[in-house]
Amino acid sequence: MAEEIFIPKTASKSELYESLLPQIEALVKSETDLIANLANISAVLKTSFDFFWVGFYLVKDQELVLGPFQGPLACTRIAFGKGVCGTAWKEEQTILVPDVDAFPGHIACSTASRSEIVVPIVHKGTVAMVLDVDAANLDAFDDVDSHYLEKLANEIIAKHCL
Ligand code: SME
Repeated sequence: MAEEIFIPKTASKSELYESLLPQIEALVKSETDLIANLANISAVLKTSFDFFWVGFYLVKDQELVLGPFQGPLACTRIAFGKGVCGTAWKEEQTILVPDVDAFPGHIACSTASRSEIVVPIVHKGTVAMVLDVDAANLDAFDDVDSHYLEKLANEIIAKHCL
């Protein structure tokens, strides 16, 4: 397997996602271990974009437990319906937070995180994990991010990793 990803330098955000998603799909199709794949997906996203933190929280025994990630130390457990991650799990939909201080109940693993997007990953009709991406600047995420991160969650991770 080629453990190398081509990251176009001058691409727009959507061009970057367009280039990366097929490469991520090829990467995870060549490996069967879930944790190995989630670790590599975190690494690819963190090194390709100016994200502060990228990682996964996995549903285990009725709570979210920290999985593979790239970035600073993070909280390890999040309850159903709590924080942005627990809310995305409960509502089974992507939550885009332009300003974390304005989100009631936001869990601040790091005070340097200013905006956030959380995408649930659904397997056999239930949320199996969430993909959490944080940025150090306000309003860092938009419809382009939700479109491609949902594609990553539903068409790549749910399909090939679970
Ligand atoms: N801010 C998240 C907690 C996880 S960290 O951002 C890595 C939340 O409110 O659920």
